Amino acid sequence: MRVDKPVPSVLVRRFGSRLADAAAGMPVLDVACGSGRNAIFLFQLGCTVICIDRDLTRLRTEQHTMCNEVPARLRSQQIDLVKEPWPFGACTVGGIVNVHFLLPKLFPFFESSLSPGGYLMLETVPGCGGNYLELPRAGELRVAFGKAFDFELYKKRKVGPMSCDAVTIQILARRRNEKLSRH
Ligand SMILES: C[S@@+](CC[C@H](N)C(=O)[O-])C[C@H]1O[C@@H](n2cnc3c(N)ncnc32)[C@H](O)[C@@H]1O
Repeated sequence: MRVDKPVPSVLVRRFGSRLADAAAGMPVLDVACGSGRNAIFLFQLGCTVICIDRDLTRLRTEQHTMCNEVPARLRSQQIDLVKEPWPFGACTVGGIVNVHFLLPKLFPFFESSLSPGGYLMLETVPGCGGNYLELPRAGELRVAFGKAFDFELYKKRKVGPMSCDAVTIQILARRRNEKLSRH
């Protein structure tokens, strides 16, 4: 029997229950799920989780270590998010987790697929080594999500050489209900 459990990201450990409650039974997406360390944590909180990644090998290994039969609430879909179209419709998910994989072309899809009241939890890779080359510019994500989301956490840290404007970001943002905010 396995003794070491996969450790979810700090953000998921801290705010997972908030995201799970707000999802209210709707599925939560783990975008670029990797081993599923975050998905499994949310599953254990009671969520139905859809794990998406171009390579599901690590998730499958983790699932088999966890239990013999894959539970119905832990689903997976293999997809190359760079090359293939976004497969989820409008307001079809109750939460989105996007940790250590940043693909800005997905941001409008996060906005449309997330139901009002649902949370987006996003964490970039840490700022070590040459990571700053793939990290967002300061303010980039605030602009990308500011129209449709309320930020409950927006933590940024400047990284890389002084001459570059890269930051690491941790975001917990709640999808606004546009009908309500118009009144
Ligand atoms: C650094 S891992 C992060 C995994 C997970 N989110 C976590 O926090 O442990 C990045 C993941 O992105 C996935 N990935 C990379 N490019 C992808 C693509 N084009 N489409 C879908 N998944 C991709 C990789 O397979 C890998 O599992």
